[in-house]
Amino acid sequence: MTARIIDGKAIAAELRARVAAEVIRVKQDHALTPGLAVVLVGNDPASEVYVRSKHTQTQAAGMASFEHKLPADVSQADLLALIARLNRDPLVHGILVQLPLPKSLHTETIIHAIDPAKDVDGLHPHNAGRLAGGLAALSPCTPLGCIILTKSVHPSLEGMNAIVIGRSNLVGRPLVQLLLNENATVTIAHSRSRDLAKLCAQADLVYAAVGKPEMVRGDWLKPGATVIDVGINRIPVEGGKPKLVGDVAFQEAVKVAGAITPVPGGVGQMTVACLLVNTLRAACAIHG
Ligand code: GUN
Repeated sequence: MTARIIDGKAIAAELRARVAAEVIRVKQDHALTPGLAVVLVGNDPASEVYVRSKHTQTQAAGMASFEHKLPADVSQADLLALIARLNRDPLVHGILVQLPLPKSLHTETIIHAIDPAKDVDGLHPHNAGRLAGGLAALSPCTPLGCIILTKSVHPSLEGMNAIVIGRSNLVGRPLVQLLLNENATVTIAHSRSRDLAKLCAQADLVYAAVGKPEMVRGDWLKPGATVIDVGINRIPVEGGKPKLVGDVAFQEAVKVAGAITPVPGGVGQMTVACLLVNTLRAACAIHG
């Protein structure tokens, strides 16, 4: 058996097209142009690539995109002043501070300074708490993308056994809450969990978000399971370009799983598409 490959690229393109159509409607009916401000501190090459992609896709969806590039040695006070300005700016409905920040800045303080109504990353404790309480909230984009990809295979997740490997604030923890909201039964695993293979063997849905290349092996999986690989790991190749691999050993897993996301071409593109969804939602909610 070979797993069905979940085409994240196509599903993300479809979602972006739906957002673009809705943006046309809110512009016409409400004279509202959703606006996203992205703040990049320093010049980490991977972050620069992500921010450029966010900028291009925001504009392609018909939204306003505001880029703020700050030097790596910006003071915490100056960054907080920028966030305060963006909080007040009526043209800005979503604010995203690209992570990771340089070590000299206190990430928690910065995230907490963002107006929760504009927190399109869903990282402010107001939104994280609402999500944990089962209330409507702006939710982190990558976990939202994981749920959409899963639902392309299983429209209802009710009663399914899911395992989330990884407990980061950006992916693992919010993903657990979103799965609970879908009435899945969720096991939360992480780097200190014992016998991950045994835990995975029970799971209809496997989410790998640990940042360890090819850690989840094919023989851990329940035959027919749906596997969503959040990992993006760059492996050096002698004399060539680095190879991108996920947290799942794809060539093994594809022989056992029922459906699986590739890396690249799986979860990656969904993150920005869901950021556009969140920006549109935030704009409509702020506008009333
Ligand atoms: N760095 C990598 N992924 C993300 C993300 O989803 N949001 C932010 N703010 N930074 C990131």
